[in-house]
Amino acid sequence: MSGKLWDGRFGEATDRNVERFTASVKTDSRLYAHDIAGSIAHCKMLARQAIISGEEAALLIKGLQSIKEEIAGGEFEFDEAAEDVHMNIECRLALHVGDVAKKLHTARSRNDQVALDTRMWLRDESEEILRCLRILRRELVGLSKKHIDVVMPGYTHMQRAQPVLLSHYFMAYYEMFKRDTARFREGLVRINVLPLGSAALAGTTFPIDMGYTAELLGFPEVVANSLDAVSDRDFVIEFLSASSICMVHMSRLSEELIYWSSAEFAFVEMPDSFSTGSSIMPQKKNPDVCELVRGKTGRVFGSLMASLTMMKSLPLAYNRDMQEDKDALFDAVDTLRACLAIYGKLLPKLRINSGRMRDAAEHGFANATDLADYLVTRGVGFRDAHHAVGKAVGYALEKKKELHDLALEELRVFSPLIDQDVFDVLSFSSVINRRRSTGGTATKNVLEAISAAEAELEQENCESK
Ligand code: ARG
Repeated sequence: MSGKLWDGRFGEATDRNVERFTASVKTDSRLYAHDIAGSIAHCKMLARQAIISGEEAALLIKGLQSIKEEIAGGEFEFDEAAEDVHMNIECRLALHVGDVAKKLHTARSRNDQVALDTRMWLRDESEEILRCLRILRRELVGLSKKHIDVVMPGYTHMQRAQPVLLSHYFMAYYEMFKRDTARFREGLVRINVLPLGSAALAGTTFPIDMGYTAELLGFPEVVANSLDAVSDRDFVIEFLSASSICMVHMSRLSEELIYWSSAEFAFVEMPDSFSTGSSIMPQKKNPDVCELVRGKTGRVFGSLMASLTMMKSLPLAYNRDMQEDKDALFDAVDTLRACLAIYGKLLPKLRINSGRMRDAAEHGFANATDLADYLVTRGVGFRDAHHAVGKAVGYALEKKKELHDLALEELRVFSPLIDQDVFDVLSFSSVINRRRSTGGTATKNVLEAISAAEAELEQENCESK
């Protein structure tokens, strides 16, 4: 027999192929620190409830701590034959403390143990992601502040539409990442529930105190139903869903930076230190970081799909299918963290070509709506104003001029209500600064949005200290 922790009823050793196929330790060894912290809390609770003695608990805890040091120091060799991180550590514990190691698994099962470890691990990772999001948002606010005077064309259908402040653009992304922040925070509330003590599926006959374990491990809540506790991966799916939405935002920002840095746009220039060259075309400078972030979005969506599909139709309670959750989750966390972190570093180095942006904003009739609005203030119905300005645009196109380049007499052909003051309205500072509706692009509004964001970030900084 191969000496498994569970092989009492088995008549033959596990087939090596099966061992390899079912083992998860290559993936879940990453949970070791959380697994050990959970086991230590479990020992303390068992001793407090007199399920094991104080001396036994002390021995177990000492053994667990030295295993943690062994693993951290790279001295521990994980063995596929021991299947997963939980059993690797338990097997090792026997070598450290002898027979008493057999008491560690009293009143728990790997089903509640793996749920606990995953929750504890994801709780820490969520905090890390929130920190990366905070840095990214801070950089967006920094850029917005620094470039508050830069005007660019805003687009709909990828056609020049109306001028906006570049800062308004960046602050739009700030809002997206602010919503992501809220989603990860809300997710934490549901991650932060202690499942340990649910045992295999039905709870345990031992007089455990889950409240005490929860207190030791910093869980504000304990699960309400043991079947649900061992079979729930909603918190994983929710996290992956928040990650996917966050990656949607990252991919959109990436796409903007990629085309903005093309020769056709030349709105921004990537720093050399964040670009790569071509092995054949000497002149090339490619925005690979942004392209990779855009490309990696698919991996995170993939993890979400894999998890949803893995959980779909699973009967209660634990099923081995659920072991697949960690590959998907770990990959998504690594990907998201890497993308957020690299953008936190790239953004402050981005070079802004304000001349190109202004030039693009001033060409292409981006102030046509303002002329229509002007006519409305003179009593013309909006639809008629729209039509008259459309005609004026057609005329200006023929003359190869912009609306603000036409003479007053030329403009008056399209409406006699147009006066000299129209040129103030058509000026780009007025086009921007008259858009004062809530959330509009007027400099005053954008500065207010920046101040509000700074206050939010400051508040979050205080809370995270
Ligand atoms: N390695 C397993 C997982 O990650 C741990 C739980 C195994 N439980 C069991 N009854 N086989 O899901």
